[in-house]
Amino acid sequence: MKPVRIAPSILSADFAKLGEEVRAIDAAGADWIHIDVMDGHFVPNITIGPAVVKALRPHTRLPFDVHLMISPIDAYLDAFAEAGADTITVHPEAGPHIHRSLQHIKSLGKRAGVVLNPGTPAKMLDYLIDIVDLVLVMSVNPGFGGQSFINSQLRKIAAIRKMIDASGRDIDLEVDGGIDLRTAALAIDAGADALVAGTATFRGGPEAYAANIRGLRGG
Ligand code: DX5
Ligand code: ZN
Repeated sequence: MKPVRIAPSILSADFAKLGEEVRAIDAAGADWIHIDVMDGHFVPNITIGPAVVKALRPHTRLPFDVHLMISPIDAYLDAFAEAGADTITVHPEAGPHIHRSLQHIKSLGKRAGVVLNPGTPAKMLDYLIDIVDLVLVMSVNPGFGGQSFINSQLRKIAAIRKMIDASGRDIDLEVDGGIDLRTAALAIDAGADALVAGTATFRGGPEAYAANIRGLRGG
């Protein structure tokens, strides 16, 4: 197993000083920066677009893990790649051709991720596992930070861990939503090797970020 990577979701950062917040979580030991892009249509919330991703790019060298919750999706992939995304993660429900979207992300030279909502079965991966670089399991319904972890997703994480191991490919298994000290341990036990954490990273303000991230990694 790889060491667990922690990807703070900047959805829980202070939006009035995002650059500063990104520098602070970088200094605090984050591995990736998780950027939640929402359109008020695919999910009931609106956040940020490619211009903000681009503005944040000079503030850190950490990989940008861009989680797109927008529909339709294909017309925006180039813009996020150009803005500085390293991994681009898409929902199968957000466009008519998930395989084509993933191929397109790879053709842009970026890592391609697929994200499964709580109601979407692991089986969705059967014919995607040979192309994806990352699988993101939603442990809340997408749209908002601060929700409670949905326990049924642990079984899905375990099933996907087996699929990834059987594939022999290098694929990250990331979990997003309701991650705190308790659920981080559960997700890692089930086979996750990357955790998104918004609330649990940013609680307590900048002085707490390093300890928060260390705790999620398992101390
Ligand atoms: C939800 C987002 C998550 C969210 C996680 O749609 O994809 O990344 O920000 O927030 P917490 O860690 O607070 O559940
Ligand atoms: Zn997310």
